[in-house]
Amino acid sequence: MLTKRPRGTNDFLPADTAKWQYVEDMLRRICREFGYEEIRTPIFEDTALFLRGVGDTTDIVQKEMYTFEDAGGRSITLRPENTASAVRAYVENKLFAGVQPVKLFYMGPMFRYERPQAGRFRQFHQFGIECFGAASPAADAEIIALAWEFYNRLGLKGLEVNLNSVGCPHCRPLYRQALQDFLRPHLGELCPTCQERFEKNPLRILDCKNPDCQQHLVGAPITLEHLCDDCSEHFTAVKRYLDEAGIPYRINDRLVRGLDYYTNTAFEILLSDIGAQSAVCGGGRYNSLVEQVGGKPTPGVGFALGMERVFNALAAQGIELPVQSGTDVFVAALGEAEMPLVFRLVTELRRRNIAAAYDMLGRSLKAQFKYADKFSAAYTLIVGGDELARGNVLMRDMATSEQQEVPLDEVVALLAERLG
Ligand code: HAM
Repeated sequence: MLTKRPRGTNDFLPADTAKWQYVEDMLRRICREFGYEEIRTPIFEDTALFLRGVGDTTDIVQKEMYTFEDAGGRSITLRPENTASAVRAYVENKLFAGVQPVKLFYMGPMFRYERPQAGRFRQFHQFGIECFGAASPAADAEIIALAWEFYNRLGLKGLEVNLNSVGCPHCRPLYRQALQDFLRPHLGELCPTCQERFEKNPLRILDCKNPDCQQHLVGAPITLEHLCDDCSEHFTAVKRYLDEAGIPYRINDRLVRGLDYYTNTAFEILLSDIGAQSAVCGGGRYNSLVEQVGGKPTPGVGFALGMERVFNALAAQGIELPVQSGTDVFVAALGEAEMPLVFRLVTELRRRNIAAAYDMLGRSLKAQFKYADKFSAAYTLIVGGDELARGNVLMRDMATSEQQEVPLDEVVALLAERLG
């Protein structure tokens, strides 16, 4: 019996990967323009990193991690996200000792044991950026600007930037207290998850989708009214920078995000076209995380976006990416005897960076032409017959259907010139 791929994972076939490469190239280009450089961290880390980095009251740590013991008895976890690893790498490799800020990007697979549904997978891919060492609100605005630029270059419409501030270790405890005081009289009526969160992480109750919980949140205190002066100033400045860059946003005072490390700015970009999993991107500032992971106090800010959700959004909005496929030259053999010569021509073309295809299955000439259609080649060469006896091959320009005989030993140079 065929073993199927695990639930919540995907196979991306060549028609998909061509699109992925196009989007990844676009992201790399944008990162270069914004000054972010790539970092690649391990796909697995010591479990302790995520317990400390992501936070042990989060859904991710409590129920979604792929954790196992390796043969050496260490507890290992497949990364559920990349921020904690980027922070670890920043500290471990002493990137703090170089010029600041350090601006990094990453892309790759992440793993969360979630209930699979449209737009939510157990292995999914993120592109993300992290900026270390800059406390300036310009850094918060810059990461949002990068995400905004990306979605706009793809041509996606209907994006909504949701912005909030979740305060800092000085003002958040007061807000937390105010929220708990407000909810305490109704604690018994909240859903079991919210009841559980009430002591450990009451801010997450704001984010509960249960209509009864939502009902009890009407009139609840909001973070923005409990910010200390520094956080309030920071938030005002982030908005000012976004205004200056012409990036529209909506203040969403219920936005708290599902990870524990945020301080000050929290944001998400939503897109209603793609169903329930409408967050195409999320992130914010995390000024305490570097210290939590064992470094010196260092401000940080970043975001990650779900790649699968980008493709869902493109499909939902009917956007076709201009991906290039096919080949430059198809080389057809009149018969079996010409095959070694075909192989030589194809090899010489490829050595000149020309994409070249041929038939490996010994098809008839007619069937080779049919097969060649798949490649939508700009030129076809036909090798054999009287032309070959004269030391030539037949070269057909597929766009104009023009045919000409070209000396065998000149055809590669001629094609290289034409395909430039
Ligand atoms: P996150 O909100 O957990 O944040 O994930 C960021 C994005 O990854 C989401 O907005 C969504 O597009 C995508 N995503 C998350 N889980 C799944 C899933 N199961 N299937 C498909 N897509 C998914 C973080 O991961 C933070 N590390 C972001 C960050 C970076 N904050 C600061 N720096």
